Amino acid sequence: MNVRKGAEIARGKTKVLYESLDDAQRLVVRQGDAITAGDGARRDVIAGKGRLAALTTSRVFRLLNKRGLPTHYLGGGEDEDGNEMLVRRCEMIPLEVVVRGIVAGSYAKRNPALKRGSPLSPRVIEFFLKDDEHHDPMITRDEILARGIATEEEIETMQRLARETFAVLEEAWRQRDVLLVDLKVEFGRSAERGALLLADVIDNDSWRIWPQGREEAMLDKQIYRNLEQRDEEALARVKRAYEEVAAAVADFDRA
Ligand code: C5P
Repeated sequence: MNVRKGAEIARGKTKVLYESLDDAQRLVVRQGDAITAGDGARRDVIAGKGRLAALTTSRVFRLLNKRGLPTHYLGGGEDEDGNEMLVRRCEMIPLEVVVRGIVAGSYAKRNPALKRGSPLSPRVIEFFLKDDEHHDPMITRDEILARGIATEEEIETMQRLARETFAVLEEAWRQRDVLLVDLKVEFGRSAERGALLLADVIDNDSWRIWPQGREEAMLDKQIYRNLEQRDEEALARVKRAYEEVAAAVADFDRA
């Protein structure tokens, strides 16, 4: 993909956003080699991670687009293109929308009476406010409304689209004998149309995935969060998992 990048407009912990010189309604998202956890408290650089993240995100968004879900993804990220994808410009809603199919992570911690690894039906949706300084606190629907973060209709739409996204990715992983445990997505309002789009990235940092339903076989960023020692050997292990995931999602959109 050959997009002429303009000014940098935003920088996250693992990616940079640029204007597109060719179209004011589009942006370029470039994924980098950083890996972080604990709201940035833990940070490393894994050479090649940006390539794997761009591959994973673009394949996931391609599948979602094909299934009729509205995403910001327009193209790129798959080739030797500087890990850059072209997306529709959005006004981001500062929420992390988490869908859970299995009791794990912070949900297991907050609900110690529930058995880790047990299924949740229906899927449970939670909202977290994007606010690193305060460790992304959980936020209720009433608070989202009271603070003017999103409208009632938008909350409904985010829940529905998050559920549908989970169902599509759960099925794609199931076909590869991998259990999708939970997933985080983010939404933006399309600059062109105002409608909600699945935005940001969806990569191996965004979900928990357990091959054969076995937590100890996990392939996602939880491996990095769990590291006691972040030496070369350990980071190489993390990279191998990201490579495995990028290879597994390579034909997601052909499903
Ligand atoms: O930690 P917790 O159980 O709340 O995470 C739920 C899901 O959201 C996990 O798949 C995790 O990878 C993802 N997540 C994320 N970014 C965060 C927090 C959680 O992608 N800042």
